[in-house]
Amino acid sequence: MRGLVCAGGEATRLGELTRVANKHLLPVGRWPMIYYPLQLLQRAGVREVLVVTGKGHAGQMIDLLGDGRLAARGSAEPLLDLDLSYKVQTQAGGIAQVVGMAREFTRGEKLVVVLGDNIFERSHAAEIGAWGARGEGALVFVKEVPDPEQFGVVVYGDDGRVVDIVEKAGVVDTRYAAPPTSHAVVGLYCYPPDVFDVIDALEPSARGELEITDVNRHYAHEGRLDVVEVRGWWEDAGKHWQHLAEIGRLVEKTGVNL
Ligand code: G1P
Repeated sequence: MRGLVCAGGEATRLGELTRVANKHLLPVGRWPMIYYPLQLLQRAGVREVLVVTGKGHAGQMIDLLGDGRLAARGSAEPLLDLDLSYKVQTQAGGIAQVVGMAREFTRGEKLVVVLGDNIFERSHAAEIGAWGARGEGALVFVKEVPDPEQFGVVVYGDDGRVVDIVEKAGVVDTRYAAPPTSHAVVGLYCYPPDVFDVIDALEPSARGELEITDVNRHYAHEGRLDVVEVRGWWEDAGKHWQHLAEIGRLVEKTGVNL
């Protein structure tokens, strides 16, 4: 398995904080935000990780993370022990476009994708490992949320399988005025090597982006999408500046990537 952390985007939802600074380098508790998804990949047994970042921020990202072997400041205690590569996204074109940038890097292996602002109490190493060993199809994680209009949500059929996925209902996916369910797809996705063919066939959405939700819907329609409920808490740290401190406190209270 190889890993991808998507750390591009303008992060306008964080207002004044991201005029100059990159969202993924902002503090969440004791660490810059991006340490958390990187640590998740490491705990899941992924060593080779591609970081895709926006043009203005690649330098700082590399200054911070280097080759992926990081010791805690002033100590020899290892924080991360990854083999990092970098790519620069010059135009914001959606998460699926970023995943498409990992084609050569992935070299026919399976790919675990984490959004750079998604933070999890549990690393789900067992679920990711089982998917990696099993072989077929894609795996996504879902969590019941109070604000489903902010996310992609899954619609289940009578047999419990996913029949549809709806991205930000009423805004991106106008088939629905409001989200049909409150089961959000979180920013942790596992894909088989044919994901790049799926991305090649995508059309831009209403917001002009290649949507990761369209990739996931493709696997659902093929009957090749597995869904796992997130254990523990999950936060999208990119939604609002107020959450940064709250999530930092949560990390200290419960631990993270357990
Ligand atoms: C993205 C995805 C959405 C997903 C969310 C999870 O939205 O498009 O399907 O539910 O991440 O954090 P974004 O927050 O990038 O707008």
